[in-house]
Amino acid sequence: MASQELHDLVVVANRLPVDAKTLPDGATEWVTSPGGLVTAMESVMRNVDSAAWVGWAGSPGEAPEPFRADGMDLYPVSLDATDIEKYYEGFSNATLWPLYHDVIVDPAYHRTWWDTYVSANRRFAKAAAAVTAPGGTIWVHDYQLQLVPEMIRSERPDVRIGFFNHIPFPPVELFSQLPKRNQVLRGLLGADLVGFQRESDTLNFLASVRHLLGYQVDQRTVTVPGIGAVEPRDVIAGTFPISLDTQAVTELTEDPEIKERARQLRHDLGDPENVVLGVDRLDYTKGIRHRLKAWGELLNDGSIDPRETVLVQVATPSRERVDAYRQLRDEVELTVGRINGDHAPIGRPAISYLHRSFNRRDMTALYMAADVVLVTALRDGMNLVAKEYVASRPDLRGVLVLSEFAGAADELRAALLVNPHDIDELKSAALRALSMPEEEQEEMMTSLRRQVLDHDVQSWAKHFLDELEAVGEPAPPSAPI
Ligand code: ADP
Ligand code: G6P
Repeated sequence: MASQELHDLVVVANRLPVDAKTLPDGATEWVTSPGGLVTAMESVMRNVDSAAWVGWAGSPGEAPEPFRADGMDLYPVSLDATDIEKYYEGFSNATLWPLYHDVIVDPAYHRTWWDTYVSANRRFAKAAAAVTAPGGTIWVHDYQLQLVPEMIRSERPDVRIGFFNHIPFPPVELFSQLPKRNQVLRGLLGADLVGFQRESDTLNFLASVRHLLGYQVDQRTVTVPGIGAVEPRDVIAGTFPISLDTQAVTELTEDPEIKERARQLRHDLGDPENVVLGVDRLDYTKGIRHRLKAWGELLNDGSIDPRETVLVQVATPSRERVDAYRQLRDEVELTVGRINGDHAPIGRPAISYLHRSFNRRDMTALYMAADVVLVTALRDGMNLVAKEYVASRPDLRGVLVLSEFAGAADELRAALLVNPHDIDELKSAALRALSMPEEEQEEMMTSLRRQVLDHDVQSWAKHFLDELEAVGEPAPPSAPI
């Protein structure tokens, strides 16, 4: 168990890096939490001395006691059944998530969800404030916790507060739909530094602050007006595209056992000429339906021979009690079933569909086995899958087809960029990828790898924390709370 010591750097995110799973015999097993936030931040925090992470352990009810894992002190925050329904599944994932991802599905607005969002945010803020050393730094993550910066500031004016949004920030025309939009902006402006993935996200945020709150914005600096005895303060907004622990990926690609696993995977698929791969949380933002539509058409019109080319679709279970996710799963599984029924040779799939999580070693083997990776997100903050594929190909083979609506497209300009809404374009890109000569693949991968390897997640974190350090001095430490 971790002692309740005070930490110089505290990360707060909705989820801890590990989820508690209760086994049939009642014992608890800890498994890696899903999603890009955890992939990225876990590798940053593993390398920080005396790191602390405040978050939810993934199950309803009382929080486990604080504990240590991978050199980090983890401080679980409790969410009861109502919090999960209204704060997590409701306001976070049925209101904010679709609104911030271009309203791909309709956001739902319910007043009681907001109240629970506020109370859950307060619990995270209090938990973080309680374990941060005087003059320390608190780094708040993602859309579930947008009120936390302001809540921490009112309790701990002595700490530096950073906020990073892992998902897009919508244009003001969409953000304006959000009931309580001004409270959300004020919540974020409790931070000293607010970071986003893409330049367009930063500009969208600044436009919302200017138009909706009427605050003065000078380039990247927002001046939050003072009230009464409280002085005006400056908040900086900036763009910090997130990345991977490329060193860790490189080590995995050099492991003979993983190389063998990649060969075995191809063999298990029937040694096809081409393996095409999709890896996503089962989320409507990832454009899985569009990908399957394009794939089905390519099989129907005979452009792809299922005996030569197999699509492997890995879909991590996600947010399974939220309606739009249930519907998506049904549609995806129906479509995969139909395509396999129409096209799969006896004893082999046309699409190998895997609805479960894999460990990092298996994921790397999959990337190493894939001739083409399809990233067809309709909107995505970054999309680490695209970067993971590139980092997993020191052999310079393979082709990345990448949606221009993923944040990664700003950096990975050498990929085959596509508009996933244009099914014909998606089909041509897939065919072009499948027939790309080796020298062209090498040229593409060399350029992509330069970008990914030169900008790993450690330098991303350093850049963010250095900027945060440079943003003004916090108030002198107050009496411990
Ligand atoms: P998001 O954060 O929206 O889930 P990203 O592409 O940024 O999207 O990050 C997804 C992360 O989850 C990547 O690190 C990816 O390797 C991992 N991942 C996706 N599917 C699986 C799976 N089935 N098993 C294990 N890890 C997965
Ligand atoms: C994305 C979000 C994260 C979230 C993850 C998994 O990466 O940016 O904040 O944790 O998806 O989603 P979940 O709802 O399972 O936490």
